[in-house]
Amino acid sequence: MSQKNSFASTNSPTKNLSLLISICFVLLLSTSLYAADVSTTKTYSYDDWESPEECGACHIDIYQQWKQSMMSESFTHHWDEIEYFKLAVPHAEKDEVVAGVKAGCNGCHSPMAFLTGDIPPSRPSENTRANEGVHCDFCHTITGFDGDVPFNFNFVIAPGDTKQGPRENPEDPPHGTMKSQFLGTAEFCGICHNEKDPYGIWVKSTHLEWKESVYAEQGVVCQDCHMTKAQSVTVDEGQIYDDARQHLFHGAHDAGKIRGTVELRIHPDANSVTVGEPVKFTVALFNQKAGHKFPTGSVEDRILWLHVEAKDASGNVYHLPVDKKGFDGEEYTIGADVLAYQDMAIALDDPNFKGVQRDGIPIGDRIFRMAYFDPQGRMTIQQWNTKSLGVDYRIGPRETKLETFSFVVPENAAKGKLEISATLNYQLLVKPVADFLGVPEEESKIFEVNNHSTSIEIL
Ligand code: HEC
Ligand code: HEC
Ligand code: HEC
Ligand code: HEC
Ligand code: HEC
Repeated sequence: MSQKNSFASTNSPTKNLSLLISICFVLLLSTSLYAADVSTTKTYSYDDWESPEECGACHIDIYQQWKQSMMSESFTHHWDEIEYFKLAVPHAEKDEVVAGVKAGCNGCHSPMAFLTGDIPPSRPSENTRANEGVHCDFCHTITGFDGDVPFNFNFVIAPGDTKQGPRENPEDPPHGTMKSQFLGTAEFCGICHNEKDPYGIWVKSTHLEWKESVYAEQGVVCQDCHMTKAQSVTVDEGQIYDDARQHLFHGAHDAGKIRGTVELRIHPDANSVTVGEPVKFTVALFNQKAGHKFPTGSVEDRILWLHVEAKDASGNVYHLPVDKKGFDGEEYTIGADVLAYQDMAIALDDPNFKGVQRDGIPIGDRIFRMAYFDPQGRMTIQQWNTKSLGVDYRIGPRETKLETFSFVVPENAAKGKLEISATLNYQLLVKPVADFLGVPEEESKIFEVNNHSTSIEIL
């Protein structure tokens, strides 16, 4: 009970008139979030923000970049719609502990809907302003965050004519601007990219992962990889800047961003081998590209796995399962033929629901993941229903993991060249779940992160 109460806090937001900026409201959201009482969120109206199309009339380039990013689809994207309306809302209506997510999901995915108390917002097909998602005027009126750690939409916001920007005196803007140190920090992103669920578990910790990394030490922030600097205008026919931030927000939905995140090398422990003899292959996986763990963010959905095969001179293919290492919880990091995700039964109103296949990948392949467990200890993709986390077997920033594959060359294998290939694959959403919920295929298609192959002689 005490757990629940800390999340259903009645701390109501306070509305202050800022002395510095006229018509500027500052909302101090409580840090114990996911407020169960929707009425506490009715602080603003949609009219307090301009639409991205209005900003896009002048900031054409930036608008076009943003429009192609997931930020502009944070409320309308098919999987978001399915997860929110089909799972989270019905679950919140049946289970008091998670009741707050009905409003809370929108704190990051449709922050205007959250602050105006438009809960639940209309479906994307209704074309309301909830669809604008994480848009220009929202980000550019955030002035800071409340508390010590940015997480759970604890933004301080000041909608109005004054837009927060990186520069002191931009040339002749038709609206107010204010130089913000904050906008350029990783903490700004952490407001929505760190999340604690109603059970107090960190179900999203991209900023916290980054903070412990060498990138934070070296002052490389989120913006440096996701909003790269380039010579361009920021407004149509405006001044050219050498370091204008590109609003790309490329992430896990972008094949090019995923490609090459991890570098692979496979090498045998022998120069040649005879049939019936064992040989061991080691795969080195180096996370050379991500400023946080891989996968990060929606870790409960994502699956990253290593598949190793050997092919002999006659074309026979042998699948090599990974050697077990023996750490606690390792069973969740090896592809298996088991059912999981039984807690969807609550939202689906089906007490006989047995779950769906956990992984949907070849049995025995190594998975780089951290499992999320529901209050009954079963694996879940419902991040809001997570009461504990499994072993964290993801690949950290600039970390190298070694995996070994022992293989006894079969008696009937052809003599000559044995080719060994290692492929690292990635899916946004485990396929059996995507298929079960009717999520369009683009969410479960396989991205190849990298591959490598080598060969050895069978004597
Ligand atoms: C009528 C044209 C116009 C519209 C509409 C417009 N802007 Fe601007 N904006 C400008 C101009 C011009 C500048 C200054 C140009 C420069 O930086 O070289 C500017 C500057 C900015 C800056 C400051 C950038 C810095 O360098 O610090 C931000 C942030 C910004 N606009 C955001 C917005 C947002 C958000 C909207 C929509 C709510 C918007 N603008 C609508 C023309 C416009
Ligand atoms: C997720 C939050 C977010 C969204 C959404 C967003 N911006 Fe930005 N914007 C930023 C950040 C962060 C910066 C860079 C701040 C820095 O480098 O200090 C920035 C920079 C800018 C700048 C100044 C660029 C420069 O480098 O001189 C302009 C102008 C701007 N944004 C306009 C827009 C417009 C127009 C949209 C919508 C089409 C938009 N932004 C959407 C966060 C956002
Ligand atoms: C107001 C909340 C909010 C803020 C602030 C914010 N984001 Fe996001 N961001 C989101 C949401 C919600 C999504 C998920 C979109 C979706 O539904 O797939 C997202 C998606 C992304 C993605 C795409 C991920 C993918 O799966 O492809 C990237 C990259 C990203 N954000 C980076 C940033 C960076 C960098 C910053 C800081 C400059 C930032 N975000 C600030 C809410 C926010
Ligand atoms: C050194 C470059 C680098 C830095 C710094 C960095 N990222 Fe990333 N980010 C990547 C790469 C590469 C990927 C694609 C691989 C992956 O999903 O991890 C990525 C992926 C993402 C995704 C998609 C994850 C998913 O599964 O949907 C989000 C969201 C994101 N980053 C946000 C952030 C935020 C927020 C920060 C700062 C706290 C940040 N990134 C810092 C390189 C970086
Ligand atoms: C603290 C902010 C925050 C809250 C609260 C939040 N999300 Fe998210 N959500 C994000 C961000 C940021 C991403 C993108 C991270 C990534 O790319 O992995 C995301 C990603 C997702 C995705 C994956 C999108 C994709 O295409 O892969 C779904 C689905 C989703 N959220 C649904 C929900 C639901 C349902 C809730 C409420 C139970 C919720 N979110 C609460 C910030 C939040």
